Amino acid sequence: MKTQAQPAAEGSSGTAKSVTIVGTGSYVPERVLTNADLEKMVDTTDEWIVTRSGIRERHIAREDEATSDMAAEASRRALAQAGVSAEDVDLIIVATVTPDMVFPNTACFVQNLIGARNATCFDLEAACSGFLYAMHVASQFIRTGAARTALVIGAEKLSCVTDWQDRATCVLFGDGAGAVVLQACEAPRGFLATVTGSDGALTDLLKIPGGGSRSPTSVETIEKRMHYMQMVGKEVFKNAVRSMGDAARNALEQSGLTLDDVACVVPHQANIRIVDAIRERLGVPPEKFYVNLERFGNMSAASIPVALDEAVRAGRIKKGDVVVMVAFGGGFTWGSSVIRM
Ligand code: UT7
Repeated sequence: MKTQAQPAAEGSSGTAKSVTIVGTGSYVPERVLTNADLEKMVDTTDEWIVTRSGIRERHIAREDEATSDMAAEASRRALAQAGVSAEDVDLIIVATVTPDMVFPNTACFVQNLIGARNATCFDLEAACSGFLYAMHVASQFIRTGAARTALVIGAEKLSCVTDWQDRATCVLFGDGAGAVVLQACEAPRGFLATVTGSDGALTDLLKIPGGGSRSPTSVETIEKRMHYMQMVGKEVFKNAVRSMGDAARNALEQSGLTLDDVACVVPHQANIRIVDAIRERLGVPPEKFYVNLERFGNMSAASIPVALDEAVRAGRIKKGDVVVMVAFGGGFTWGSSVIRM
């Protein structure tokens, strides 16, 4: 297990640039699947889903709509908000557990769809923490001068890895994509601190076991439903609360700020009870947390960028505001970033 941090106030050293978000965008598919719809599919109730998770509905992609299609639309919106052309993008990172294909990487598909022909493209997989990890990686490219304008995307078509016969998981997830444009900026704006961590001893608790090199796709893996997500919900819950609480606290400490300085916390949107538990651990009033999971469910790597984009467009996050993002996911992986927008 390790935790790494980038120096607080990155821009202040004179050598390192600060890096900030100059545009956000998001996209969710049109089709809405409600709890009432799920009542007809598995043995569940709206009451169980709402009280145990807080989720009321989620969006489901069309069959012909791949992760890159959603990612491209979110990217177009982020680029438009930033006033940046696709040709100016020189780095695209897509965080996803549901790539279009094993390879080529989904970022290459996005590149082609939006016409970002000058970009270097790759995917990053850290499950629900993937978007924060990807922003951290892209920031290092910009700080070192290896890139000037990065497009960082969290995008998921979880509906295609959801076991629609498993009531314990199928009620929780949804599809969507969120994107940010990153560029260098003058301190004291930009990322003030990021912490990340992982615990590979707990890989078994949240996974898609089939279809990789350990258990390549076969009639047997399909019959055993190994190509779908499997989760030990209670264990994931406990670890998520502890790791996200600690990560947010550590990132804030490294930024030299306190919770009083924070305008908005954007947590990974897995379960309202997880969000409430973190909020209580940190001692933050509910109005400082941006929560949209009741409308989208858990969109894994897409959860934070979609919530961030909504919060920006709704005026909940303004220029100069300090925002804390915090995530947790399979691996386990976790992370938190503090940014002055
Ligand atoms: O993105 C990061 C990854 N994911 C998460 O962070 C999710 C973390 N975990 C959770 O959010 C929660 O553990 C769940 C929402 C998945 C489950 O809530 P829980 O309070 O931990 O419930 P449970 O799994 O202990 O299940 C309680 C009961 C069980 O019945 P018995 O054994 O008590 O008779 C389940 O079989 O609820 C039953 N159950 C359901 N009942 C109706 C499980 N799923 C359902 C369902 N509808 N959909």
